[in-house]
Amino acid sequence: MDTVQVDLPNGSYKIYVGTGTLEKLGEYLPFEKKNRLFVITNDLVGPLYGNSLVESLQQYGYKTLYQQVPDGEEYKSFASAEELYTCAIKGGLDRGSAVIALGGGVIGDLAGFVAATYMRGIPLIQVPTTLLAQVDSSVGGKVAVNHPLGKNMIGSFYQPRLVFIDLQVLKTLDPREVRSGLAEVIKYGVIQDRGFFNFLEEHLAGVKALDLDLLSAVVKKSCLIKGRIVEKDEKERGLRALLNFGHTIGHALEVMTDYRVYRHGEAVSLGMVAAAEIAADRGLLAREEAERLAKLLANAGLPTVIPFSADEIIPLLSRDKKAQGGRPRFVLPLGLGKAALFDDVEEAEIREAIEKCRKKEE
Ligand SMILES: NC(=O)c1ccc[n+]([C@@H]2O[C@H](COP(=O)([O-])OP(=O)(O)OC[C@H]3O[C@@H](n4cnc5c(N)ncnc54)[C@H](O)[C@@H]3O)[C@@H](O)[C@H]2O)c1
Ligand SMILES: [Zn+2]
Repeated sequence: MDTVQVDLPNGSYKIYVGTGTLEKLGEYLPFEKKNRLFVITNDLVGPLYGNSLVESLQQYGYKTLYQQVPDGEEYKSFASAEELYTCAIKGGLDRGSAVIALGGGVIGDLAGFVAATYMRGIPLIQVPTTLLAQVDSSVGGKVAVNHPLGKNMIGSFYQPRLVFIDLQVLKTLDPREVRSGLAEVIKYGVIQDRGFFNFLEEHLAGVKALDLDLLSAVVKKSCLIKGRIVEKDEKERGLRALLNFGHTIGHALEVMTDYRVYRHGEAVSLGMVAAAEIAADRGLLAREEAERLAKLLANAGLPTVIPFSADEIIPLLSRDKKAQGGRPRFVLPLGLGKAALFDDVEEAEIREAIEKCRKKEE
């Protein structure tokens, strides 16, 4: 199986990428057989893959504990975490046990949070089942639950012991979720790797059709790019912030629509188009490159026209958790394949970019 390695001071880990490999996870776990594994999933993914995963782990000789939470972002909560702690205590989970997070980013973040805090931390295995989770949320160690007053407000950095990706499971994913994950994939090309951006332009149709060879290339490259960035800046003191390309305005759009209108990648797509517009206006990015980005996103089936006014969006920007001293921070592309962080973007520039992204409608 292919692997991508992430090297960090407090432990390195491998990301395994394969096809049809889910039931072989037991072979790759670094634990003694007497240890108990706590498989956490949701009530959509569980019936598809949970039962067979648990059976396979038992066949490898592991004792297991299994719990499903309801499907949905609203269950990435303290209440769910508490239920999972209860289940863990009743099931005799101890320091030698491990948590296996089987699902998309919601389960990865929630189960990761539980692993990070249960008995001050037990090993975490990420088994991401959405494209977004495979290319983004399962790598890098951010775990969190939501608070009623804000998303991802309570959390930690807690790296997994390993990440186990089976591309085959993407076949049951809603195509809209695939497109949402593609936004983050395209983001990696823009901020870090021009060759990868070109590759995506060339092979997008095959990737969207879930061609397994192409998916394998795309997922490995994405994990590699994210892994390298996390290695250099695990706790987001600088470089890691580049991963927020498209997220400043994207996040504002998610908040103003109460997370009900856009999938995360869709909001990020709009945010990337707007940020590219700002960069083009500053002369950092060629117009033609900004257009290539918008075209690639549109071909991926992602939105590129912002249906809200600058007046609606701008007030939300300074409230962003990542804003510094009330000033929004923007990652702007410096050509395709390179980006930098700016905290001097003027309101007028943002306004103009947003208005341009609205007009494209005509
Ligand atoms: N930790 C990080 O670094 C990080 C990064 C990005 C996003 N996130 C978090 O990730 C979450 C979003 O993750 P997501 O987009 O994966 O959403 P999600 O976990 O809600 O999954 C999307 C939908 O797909 C379903 N699903 C999952 N796998 C499936 C499969 N193989 N077949 C069929 N259906 C499947 C899920 O049940 C859900 O209905 C957010 O909470 C976000 O905050 C975290
Ligand atoms: Zn994102």
